[in-house]
Order: sequence, then C-alpha cells, then structure tokens
Amino acid sequence: MNDRPAGGPGTSQDDPEATDLSRPSIARVYDYVLGGKQHFEIDRRAAQGFIDALPDAPAIAKDNRNLLRRGVRWLVEEAGIRQILDIGSGLPTEGNVHELAHAVDPSTRVVYVDNDPGVLAHGRALLAGDATTAVITADLRDPTSILADPVVTGLIDLSQPYALLLSGIVQHLADDEDPYGIVGTLRDALPVGGYMLLSHFLDDDEPRAAKLERGFLEGGLGTGRFRTWDEIRRFFEGLEMVEPGLVYANDWRPDAGTPTDSPVHTLYAGGIGRKV
Ligand SMILES: C[S@@+](CC[C@H](N)C(=O)[O-])C[C@H]1O[C@@H](n2cnc3c(N)ncnc32)[C@H](O)[C@@H]1O
Repeated sequence: MNDRPAGGPGTSQDDPEATDLSRPSIARVYDYVLGGKQHFEIDRRAAQGFIDALPDAPAIAKDNRNLLRRGVRWLVEEAGIRQILDIGSGLPTEGNVHELAHAVDPSTRVVYVDNDPGVLAHGRALLAGDATTAVITADLRDPTSILADPVVTGLIDLSQPYALLLSGIVQHLADDEDPYGIVGTLRDALPVGGYMLLSHFLDDDEPRAAKLERGFLEGGLGTGRFRTWDEIRRFFEGLEMVEPGLVYANDWRPDAGTPTDSPVHTLYAGGIGRKV
C-alpha cells in the first residue's frame, strides 16, 4: 500500500493542504469502512485496530449512514424542514445530505461543518455553483463559534426551525470534553419547531461493545466512545422524541433499503428530537 488515496493520482483529494498524513483522520477512516476512496495507509491501519476487535465493525458505518439518509428524508419530506446544519458531515459520499434534501426541495439550505480540512476541500469541489449549500471548517467543541459563523448565519436563519444533524460525531467527544455541555448549547439554541438528529455508538451491555471501544480507543484511531442507552438519551434532554424514539439505528423508520441482517444491529442507536 502506498500513501496515495485509493482514488489515485489526479483526483481532487490530492490537495496537499487538505491532507494531514501524520495521523489518521476520522473522516477518511469512515470513508474507508464505507467502501469509499478517500483514505491512506495510516487510516487503513487505524481502521484495522478496531476491525481486529470486531471484524463486522464496518457494518456500523453503513447502518449509521442509512439512518442518516432516512432521517434527512423524513425531516425534509415529512417535517417540512428547509434548513439543515450538519456538524461532523464527513467527506462527500453517495447520497449526500444536500442531495437528499434537494431531491425533495432544491431550495433547502444546508451548511456542512467538519473539523477535517479535507472535508472543506472536497466539499468546495462538489458544491461549486450551488448557492444553497456551503461547507466550513469548525470544531464541535466550540459550538458558539459555529452558531456565530457568518457562513452559517448567511444561509440559515437560526431563529426559524432548522435541523441540527449530529450523526456519528458525538462518540468522538471524550467524557472529559464536556459532551453534554456541547450538545446542550446546540440543543438550547434550536428554535421551537427545530429538530436534532443524533446517532451514536451504543454499549448495549454487550461484551463486544467494550471490546470494540478498546479497538477504537487503543487500536490507532484514539477516539470512539460506546455509550449506554441512558447516556445517549441524555443528549436529547428536553426534546420531544419523534416516533419511534431513540432506538437501534436500523429500527428507526426502516425502509426497503434498511439492512435487516446487520451483524451489528445492537451497537448503534439514533433518533430525532423536536424542540417544543
Ligand atoms: C463518522 S463521521 C460521520 C459523517 C456523517 N455525519 C455521517 O453520519 O455519515 C464523523 C465526522 O465527524 C468529524 N468530526 C469528529 N470530531 C469533530 C469535531 N470535534 N468537530 C467537527 N467535526 C468532527 C470527522 O472529521 C468526521 O468527518
């Protein structure tokens, strides 16, 4: 394996400014386990750390991504949401949030936020000419700056209902990084009628969850907390849960594309809450 992304030379991911090869990137590792092309040897090695702990681990990424797709469709189609703030958006992949939203209403405004500069580089290329969608580099650990960012406030009227997406990101906040305070700041800022979609690694009291968490934390990536139902439920405090509530990812309004045979069904949970 060399240090070229699997996409090969000449592709947009060759931007040297966007690529820090001194450490694995959560975004690139996620892309790797989803079957994408934007990853390097250092990312694949970090992924191996948790795949060694549980060979089925990559299926969690697919369950998560499927939940995100169904959730975004529901938010735009059923809940009438036309503004989306997607924090920890990840690298562009099949079925991006703005594409799902625009399939319902092309005027839906989307701001992608990620702390990996590679996301900005790829996002810019993807979004050239799209006035409804933008991408910024910012950190979830500074939620106040995200909400004050001129790109965010330029596209999203934060006083009107919008959907806050925290899909597959909060597990990358360690316990000593104040995950409840950070999510609380964003949740409190939601106007009445706004929604929060949050999905998370789940410790459903299974030995394999603890083993897999060690694979994430000690196997090279260095991040990835598996929290219990109660711990995840706390992130939704004060919100009214949309049916069916906080559930295993594949149990959230499954459709024809939802895996029915996921080997990791009990290791991932998510839900959508509404500000009332
Ligand atoms: C597992 S991916 C999830 C991508 C997408 N939201 C999804 O559900 O398919 C997590 C993303 O969160 C980003 N991320 C992790 N910690 C972050 C932080 N503190 N601030 C902003 N982004 C972060 C990573 O760079 C990565 O792109």
